[in-house]
Amino acid sequence: MSGPGAERESGPLRVAVGSDHGGFRLKAAIVTRLRQQGYEVEDMGTDSGASVDYPEFARAVCRAVAAGACDRGILVCGTGIGMSMVANREPAIRAALCHDAYTARMSREHNDANVLCLGERVLGEGVALDLVEIWLATPFAGGRHLRRIQMF
Ligand code: RB5
Repeated sequence: MSGPGAERESGPLRVAVGSDHGGFRLKAAIVTRLRQQGYEVEDMGTDSGASVDYPEFARAVCRAVAAGACDRGILVCGTGIGMSMVANREPAIRAALCHDAYTARMSREHNDANVLCLGERVLGEGVALDLVEIWLATPFAGGRHLRRIQMF
């Protein structure tokens, strides 16, 4: 099965991760944690505080997900807002900007979000890493929610 509601049937989830300069520290922590946990991680930059443009990194991650090269994407900028705006203009992407465990879980259960957006300047690292863990582990509930995500 491909498209909304699809999940990888075997092997570790492949996760594309990207940030701008406002999110590169949290992005590095996420990459380290996910590799320790056995995920296959594609780190798409940026890797320093030098000013860059978040749309480029958002598009690179979203296109890897849309093409099927990666199963999920995680984007970090200062607030997560710019990343989520760009990501949701990309075909086949359902990006969720999450600040708490409930929205992280529900973005998977009800919306089958395939991209998670986080704000490094909004969240502490411990909270952010918990959100990532919840978001990656939560399955899509399907049923009426599948019909709804197929409507957009
Ligand atoms: C960069 O200063 C900041 O604008 C960016 O990281 C992000 O928060 C945009 O939405």
